[in-house]
Amino acid sequence: MIITGKYPNLRLRRNRKSDWCRRLVQENTLSVNDLILPIFITDGINKKESIRSMTGVYRYSVDKIPTILDGAVKNKIPMVALFPYTNSKLKNNIGTEALNENNLVCKAIRLIKRKYKSKIGIMCDVALDPYTSHGHDGVLKKGKILNDETIDILVKQSVIQAQMGCDVIAPSDMMDGRIGKIRKALDKNNLQNTQILSYAVKYASSFYGPFRDAVGSNKNLKGDKKTYQMDYKNTDEAIREISLDIKEGADMIMVKPAMPYLDIIKLAKENFKIPIISYQVSGEYSLLTNAIKKGLINEKSIIETLYAFKRSGSNAIVTYFADKIAKII
Ligand code: PBG
Repeated sequence: MIITGKYPNLRLRRNRKSDWCRRLVQENTLSVNDLILPIFITDGINKKESIRSMTGVYRYSVDKIPTILDGAVKNKIPMVALFPYTNSKLKNNIGTEALNENNLVCKAIRLIKRKYKSKIGIMCDVALDPYTSHGHDGVLKKGKILNDETIDILVKQSVIQAQMGCDVIAPSDMMDGRIGKIRKALDKNNLQNTQILSYAVKYASSFYGPFRDAVGSNKNLKGDKKTYQMDYKNTDEAIREISLDIKEGADMIMVKPAMPYLDIIKLAKENFKIPIISYQVSGEYSLLTNAIKKGLINEKSIIETLYAFKRSGSNAIVTYFADKIAKII
């Protein structure tokens, strides 16, 4: 650390004296290029449904996607993330609907690629929880989530989504060894340019509650996800997860949730020179939204959280505020 002087010669307030000067010495920036917008999709037509646990976020039927995508493309948001709300009649123990080429996600990918070409990237979750009757990310047998059996399905899900036009495959399931197997299958199917954004560091978190309501898996979920998602008491394990996924072929790494895990984001960036994406998850969104709604804090608090992610080393942020923030920055 270089100490260049001391008071009264040195007054750190001098550099903060006016707006132009604060801008001049500003160390971090936030732009629309940093934002990834999640979109929830539901079946039917002409639907824009509110979500009880997430004020201001909606589920769109596929035909209604342009009502949110037009603005995202106009404001130059680089990428959207798609999540389906699957009809419970289509759910079963092994999440078969994940492999249906006409499921909601596949239909949405085709519509977006047809209408917007390469003006915006598409990222898709790879995991079974929106499709399983028990709400888990993998195959459940005798109370256990089966790792390798789940991967076999995830590999197929990845190839199908990529064939439909998904640009970035994002496994969020936390099975061991899935990145390598997915990479291999994509390459074999001539999909060498499909990127993999690995949710390498995904903690078993209470902050996912509103999301599970949004995709309709909360009522189904039996137990918790602690045998596959990470223990929030751990740090070293994050490093091990990331290094494995990089070796297996991940192009980018996700840290999730974001705000309670700034130390992990920083650690990831310092140890691995690879794009780090942080996910400001649904619980973080709802906390902020509810506090703003009550007048306890103002809307500028949102920007403040996004800068925290940038400061700690995130290259981009998945946030349900993306479309609103893109309009004002
Ligand atoms: C499912 C998935 C979850 C989220 C993204 N993908 C929830 C979970 O693991 O239960 C959470 C996103 C959020 O809370 O905003 N694989």
